[in-house]
Amino acid sequence: MFGQPIRILVTGAEGQVGQALQERVAEQSSAIELIALPYSRLDITDTQSVQRALAEHLPDYLINTAGFNDVDKAETEQERCVAVNREGVRNLAEACAEFNVPMLHLSSDYVFDGHYASGYTEQDDGAPTGVYGASKWEAEELLRQLLPRHIILRTSWLFSECCTNYVRSTLARALQQNPLLAVDDRRGSPTSALDIARVLLAVVQQLHNGADAWGTYHYSGAEISTLYGFSEAIIEEARQHDERFAEVTLKAVASADYPTVAQRPSSSILVCRKLLHTFGIRQRPWRPELSEAVRRLYPAQPDS
Ligand SMILES: NC(=O)c1ccc[n+]([C@@H]2O[C@H](COP(=O)([O-])OP(=O)(O)OC[C@H]3O[C@@H](n4cnc5c(N)ncnc54)[C@H](OP(=O)(O)O)[C@@H]3O)[C@@H](O)[C@H]2O)c1
Repeated sequence: MFGQPIRILVTGAEGQVGQALQERVAEQSSAIELIALPYSRLDITDTQSVQRALAEHLPDYLINTAGFNDVDKAETEQERCVAVNREGVRNLAEACAEFNVPMLHLSSDYVFDGHYASGYTEQDDGAPTGVYGASKWEAEELLRQLLPRHIILRTSWLFSECCTNYVRSTLARALQQNPLLAVDDRRGSPTSALDIARVLLAVVQQLHNGADAWGTYHYSGAEISTLYGFSEAIIEEARQHDERFAEVTLKAVASADYPTVAQRPSSSILVCRKLLHTFGIRQRPWRPELSEAVRRLYPAQPDS
C-alpha cells in the first residue's frame, strides 16, 4: 500500500523554477502532488491571499519561487522589489508559522559582494551591493527569525528555455550584435531550472523522511566558468539548430567596459559541499542541461 503523496504548494509557478518543478513532478513522481499557483492566482505581497491559500490547501511544504528578479530594474523600482522579495517572504513565513508548514525558499549569489574569488560558503555573511541583493539577504534574515523549519537554497545564473534569463538574452543579442560582447571577469556556475527543481524535490523527500536538516544551503551546476565561457557554450549549442549563429563571433570585455545599472558580483561562486554532506546531493554538470534547454527553443526538425 502506498502512502499519501507529499503535498507541496508552489508560488510563482509560471517562472523558470516553478515550471521546472511541475515538469519534474509530472515525469517522475507520483509520490508528490504540487499545488502550483502562478502570480495570477497568488500574489505573495497580499497578506490575506497568502493566509487564505495556506488555509485552503494546507500543504505539507511550501516552495517559494516567486520573486522580482530584474536586477537592474530593482535599482529604480526599489519599492516593488522589496515588496515582493522581502515583504512577500515575510507574509509567507508568517502564514507558514501559523499553519505549521515548513518552507523552502530560493536565494541568490547576489547576497554576497563577489570579492571572494575562491567562492562563498553558507557561513559567509551577506554583503549585498544592490537593491535586489539586499532584498534577498533581508528576506533570508526574516525567514531565519520567523520560521525555524525553513530551507534557504542559494543558487546562481539560472537558465531554462522559458522566461527571462541569460541564455535567451544572449541568443537575442547575438542576432543583433556581431561581435557579441561577453564579460570575461565575472565567474560563477550556470544552473538549470530543471536541475534546481531536482534538488528541491530531493530535499523535500528527505525532510519528509525525517531528516532534521533545516538551514541554508548552496547549489549551482558543476563547472565554474566566466560569463564569456557561458556565452560561448550558448552560441555553440545554438549553431546546432540555427545557421544564423554560424557567423557570430564573441569578443571578451571587462565588466568595467560593459556598464550596467546595478553592480554585479565578480565572483558568484557558491561552494556546494554542505548540501552534499547533509543530503548526499551532488552537483550535476550544466553543459548537458544547456544543450537540452537550447534544443527546446527550436521546433523539432521533421524526419528527412
Ligand atoms: N534567475 C536567476 O538567475 C536566479 C539566480 C539565483 C537565484 N534566483 C532566485 O530563484 C528564484 C526563482 O527564480 P526564477 O528564475 O524561476 O524566477 P522567474 O522566472 O523570474 O519567476 C518568478 C515568478 O514570480 C512571479 N512573481 C513576481 N511577483 C510576484 C508576486 N508578488 N507574487 C507571486 N508571484 C510573483 C513572476 O511573475 P511575472 O513574471 O509576471 O513578474 C514569475 O512568474 C527567485 O527567488 C530568484 O531570486 C534566481
